[in-house]
Amino acid sequence: DLPKFGELLQNVTVPVSREAVLQCVVDNLQTYKIAWLRVDTQTILTIQNHVITKNHRMSITHAEKRAWILRIRDVKESDKGWYMCQINTDPMKSQVGYLDVVVPPDILDYPTSTDMVIREGSNVTLKCAATGSPTPTITWRREGGELIPLPNGAEAVAYNGSFLTIAKVNRLNMGAYLCIASNGIPPTVSKRVMLIVHFPPMIWIQNQLVGAALTQNITLECQSEAYPKSINYWMKNDTIIVPGERFVPETFESGYKITMRLTIYEVDIQDFGAYRCVAKNSLGDTDGAIKLYHIPHHHHHH
Ligand SMILES: *[C@@H]1O[C@H](CO)[C@@H](O)[C@H](O)[C@H]1NC(C)=O
Ligand SMILES: *[C@@H]1O[C@H](CO)[C@@H](O)[C@H](O)[C@H]1NC(C)=O
Ligand SMILES: *[C@@H]1O[C@H](CO)[C@@H](O)[C@H](O)[C@H]1NC(C)=O
Ligand SMILES: *[C@@H]1O[C@H](CO)[C@@H](O)[C@H](O)[C@H]1NC(C)=O
Ligand SMILES: *[C@@H]1O[C@H](CO)[C@@H](O)[C@H](O)[C@H]1NC(C)=O
Repeated sequence: DLPKFGELLQNVTVPVSREAVLQCVVDNLQTYKIAWLRVDTQTILTIQNHVITKNHRMSITHAEKRAWILRIRDVKESDKGWYMCQINTDPMKSQVGYLDVVVPPDILDYPTSTDMVIREGSNVTLKCAATGSPTPTITWRREGGELIPLPNGAEAVAYNGSFLTIAKVNRLNMGAYLCIASNGIPPTVSKRVMLIVHFPPMIWIQNQLVGAALTQNITLECQSEAYPKSINYWMKNDTIIVPGERFVPETFESGYKITMRLTIYEVDIQDFGAYRCVAKNSLGDTDGAIKLYHIPHHHHHH
């Protein structure tokens, strides 16, 4: 009439630094003894109520006469492995259970990209590295949900992988990228990497020919794109237009786009002619021309 196990030894999954509890249930122990062992190192941890190992994080309790409970406080990743509950019968009886120690993801600062400044048209690789157990999945997303160009030429809202390579970066790729590390163990963590794309100014003009009658108010408009931000101004006959009562320049900015407007109040005869809008940044400058011509018969509505 030998002792026997009352229950299967359960596998246990514990987040790092919490407490692991392994329970061995034995019926009819009599004078036989129960030991807990670490299988991979063949170390005896406990015999009956005594802790044998020098690991102070381990303790043993005996409950309801049949349960022998091994507790490991402040669990470390090194505690991960197989544990054995053994009865010293001849032959000995044993059962094993697996202790899995899981670690939430953590993004490593050093191998992970910091903000990147890159010239339009060149290639860039954003890097992200994370630790954790199980090994975290790295997902890239853009902060505003915009599409990410994939290495295969397609585009997607998310890309999995430690390295996000964008060939021939263009201005639409500029913005905040989030590297998100997850492994099913909360909390999921993320890091924000700014991709800044530098390019020289460009100018577009919708109406290059603008007609106005004398005394009319008229607005000239240019669209420009540049990064770093350009300085923008208007010229007439190779002189910079100084803002005044009749000449009012305005700019409206949205990201790397700037709308330039020049309003001329009560057009005078010498105002007709060629105007230029100019955009200048550290990478270059460009301009666009608008011709303001005279419409002799303007119909006034009274
Ligand atoms: C513990 O895990 C092992 C392998 O991962 C499996 O073979 C065994 O059945 C599990 N034990 C229990 C009680 O679920
Ligand atoms: C990224 O990996 C996660 C987890 O493995 C998966 O659920 C998801 O579908 C993957 N996403 C993409 C875009 O591959
Ligand atoms: C950029 O990437 C493309 C495509 O992967 C490659 O053909 C090209 O040689 C790369 N250019 C540079 C400057 O590395
Ligand atoms: C031109 O603008 C001024 C100031 O906004 C306004 O007082 C004037 O009536 C406008 N003239 C015409 C012809 O629209
Ligand atoms: C601008 O130049 C034109 C032609 O060179 C000239 O006729 C005109 O008077 C000039 N206007 C001003 C305001 O200097």
